[in-house]
Amino acid sequence: MYTQDQLKAMVAEAAKDEVLKNMAPGGILGVGTGSTANLFIDAIAPHQSHFAGVVSSSQASTDRLQKHGFKVLDSNSVQSLPMYVDGADEIDPQGHMLKGGGGALTREKIVAQLAQSFICICDGSKQVDVMGKFPLPVEIIPMAHAQVARELEKLGGVVTLRKVKGADSVYVTDNQGWILDVAGLSIKDPVDLESQINQIPGVVCNGLFARRKANVLLIGEAAGVRRQTY
Ligand code: 5RP
Repeated sequence: MYTQDQLKAMVAEAAKDEVLKNMAPGGILGVGTGSTANLFIDAIAPHQSHFAGVVSSSQASTDRLQKHGFKVLDSNSVQSLPMYVDGADEIDPQGHMLKGGGGALTREKIVAQLAQSFICICDGSKQVDVMGKFPLPVEIIPMAHAQVARELEKLGGVVTLRKVKGADSVYVTDNQGWILDVAGLSIKDPVDLESQINQIPGVVCNGLFARRKANVLLIGEAAGVRRQTY
């Protein structure tokens, strides 16, 4: 039986193989955020000459990539990326994802939107029939937090303003936004809910990646890494 950390390491390794096999040398790679993405960064580090550069989805990933010596490019300088590799907090049978547990949802969505192919890497615990057990992160403009929270409550969620782990201060994103975590949703139509939440004034982005879903899933299970396409 593998531990969750071992499963994450296995999918990170599989993603390295997937990228090196399918991406022509000299291309630019999109890189996600989180503990699984960190393992992926470490796995591709010895192969960085394969890439002209990378586009990163958070300051944390940028720091890690630069420590390894990667050339991190501004997303504005890139028109398209062949691949974007990132983790997820939940993924449903259609490849719709719920992301943002690490707070990087907005930049993740921006980089994912540039990519021709989204490679989702996660351990088996992230695969669900219906998303919503993991609280849905919504990045907001701070001055709107109370009114956005009221609107999200109307959708049936229990809303919490994210705080820094182990502290009482409000968690601030790389974009100087705040995050509302919405618990208790049963997300049967993620494409519709993603659009609906985006319509609330003060919302910057929400953690549903349904309109731009995964193209390839590499999932770590008891039998090893399983590859699925959507
Ligand atoms: C960060 C994310 C991550 O991809 C998601 O939280 C999964 O993280 P981990 O790989 O640590 O389980 O969306 O904003």
